[in-house]
Amino acid sequence: MFSTDVFRNSVRPELYSIANNDPEAVHELVLAQMRSNAFGVSMLSRLLKQEKELFVKINGRSVFPFGTAAGLDKNGDALLPLSGIFGFLEPGTLTLNFRAGNSRPRVAVDEKNLDLYNAQGFPCNGIDYFMRNIANYRKRGGKTPVYVNLCGMPTSADNAIQIAMDEMRELLKRLTPYVDGFVWNCASPNTEALKTLRTREIAHATSAMMKEMAPDKLRLIKIWPYEPQDKEPVFDFVGGFMEAGGNGIVTTNTKMFPRSEIPAAEWGYQSAGRSGRFLKPYMTRSVRELRAAFPDSVIVATGGIYSGDDAYDAFMNGADLVEGYTPYTFYGLGLLGEIQKGVMERMKKDGFASIEELQAKARQGINPQP
Ligand SMILES: Cc1cc2nc3c(=O)[nH]c(=O)nc-3n(C[C@H](O)[C@H](O)[C@H](O)COP(=O)(O)O)c2cc1C
Repeated sequence: MFSTDVFRNSVRPELYSIANNDPEAVHELVLAQMRSNAFGVSMLSRLLKQEKELFVKINGRSVFPFGTAAGLDKNGDALLPLSGIFGFLEPGTLTLNFRAGNSRPRVAVDEKNLDLYNAQGFPCNGIDYFMRNIANYRKRGGKTPVYVNLCGMPTSADNAIQIAMDEMRELLKRLTPYVDGFVWNCASPNTEALKTLRTREIAHATSAMMKEMAPDKLRLIKIWPYEPQDKEPVFDFVGGFMEAGGNGIVTTNTKMFPRSEIPAAEWGYQSAGRSGRFLKPYMTRSVRELRAAFPDSVIVATGGIYSGDDAYDAFMNGADLVEGYTPYTFYGLGLLGEIQKGVMERMKKDGFASIEELQAKARQGINPQP
């Protein structure tokens, strides 16, 4: 019932046919199914028994290190069902106010390369809507850590940064009692206004605000995929965040591609962010370089993690946690079972009794940068 082959070859084509071939509508259909099908979700969570050897310590809590990446459940609509399957959840990107985003279609699928392209433009139902979902999640006993991905929006050209910071403060104020951590994301390639936030000074100021308002919560920054020659400004940006008390980094967001390279018959936008298989080398290199530069940080890897081997590579290069979005859209949630099994097999083969032992060994081999 939860085999990845069955999902890929039978369930998925059926979903696409019902949803008129719109990948975003397919996604919404699956989230709605999860909310209404408690039996199926509880069967899946039983079958995906979380192995105790894989748990890691994050901010004082023991966490099963496989989570959902941002965008998968933007508004926290499926927190409870997802919490029975994954070890941590990253809903969002959450913005203070409602945003419609770009008009549809705004997500395209590359079936051959197992990638997705999106130009969603930060759609979000806003904080009031999300607060109802997260309060409900806690009321119904939801315990899986929630690290909400969020961003204040520089909505006006005048005073853009002040507006973004004020929004961020309001989001933090309302969310702190309900969540386990935050991921500050101004790395979306589809939203031009966010570029004004990508400086060392703003990363520093945002991180200081996060620390002041949520001193006990996990505080992370999300980055974009960078080419080797563009590493310095990215690490300067991350450095500002870490210097002011940030705990770590989520790497990596989608990568911008021009319209001419997007495999959709009609595409209404100049570009789109590409995610999935092709991101894996960006993800792996950035994890390793971040681990070397910020040895004590919490590193969350995302980008093309389709198998146990992919996840294992992320851990071996210095990741503490891994998360995904695109792979689950091709193979369904049963993929998590295969990823977990693959990691366990590799650990056994390499003689590691636990993932923490593997991570400690991996870190010894990654030399801190001066
Ligand atoms: C349709 C779609 C929407 C996304 N929306 C967000 C978002 O709102 N915020 C964010 O930080 N990342 C967003 N992402 C990026 C993912 O969180 C992730 O960083 C990226 O897709 C790489 O992981 P993957 O290959 O497992 O998908 C989105 C990705 C996709 C495919």
